[in-house]
Amino acid sequence: MAYGEGDTSFQTAGGDLGLRQLSDAFYDHMLREPQAQKILTMHPEDLEQSRDKLARFLCGWLGGPSRYNEKYGRINIPAAHRHLDVGDAEREAWLLCMAKAIDEQPYPGEFKTYLLDQLAVPAQAVQRVSQRRQNEEAEQGQSMDNDAS
Ligand code: HEM
Repeated sequence: MAYGEGDTSFQTAGGDLGLRQLSDAFYDHMLREPQAQKILTMHPEDLEQSRDKLARFLCGWLGGPSRYNEKYGRINIPAAHRHLDVGDAEREAWLLCMAKAIDEQPYPGEFKTYLLDQLAVPAQAVQRVSQRRQNEEAEQGQSMDNDAS
């Protein structure tokens, strides 16, 4: 079965345990990677819940059980990041940590490529929603300047 069908991707990623391992590896890279220091500081200091949330989100996103919803309720990924300042550098740093984490997993090579390509889609959506918010705020700031003059 193709990766996008049923729970094939979830199973190929090693199920709940495999995705927890991936999320841990991802955040371990974020702690070490110089390019990721800015996005690291955007997170809570204790990363335990972030590790849990990402692992659980990926379960449902890859066609497995809705682990995120079971514990934390509904989530929309772009909306959940709207308050953060995400530009090219932040999206690239996130994907870099993810690429390194994926590479360490015992996945088939073609699944590694597939997974990173798929993750680039929501990463782009996160950036788009964040930048729209930043642009709106900049426009509002300008119109307030105009009002004041
Ligand atoms: C594009 C670059 C991204 C950056 C810079 C980024 C950064 C962050 C940060 C800083 C947080 C913590 C937010 C907070 O506690 O206020 C967070 C939460 C989270 N991120 Fe991302 N993220 C990105 C992309 C993604 C993508 C593509 C996914 C999923 C495929 C994802 C999944 C999550 C999840 C599930 C949470 C927890 C959200 C919650 O429960 O509130 N992130 N992210």
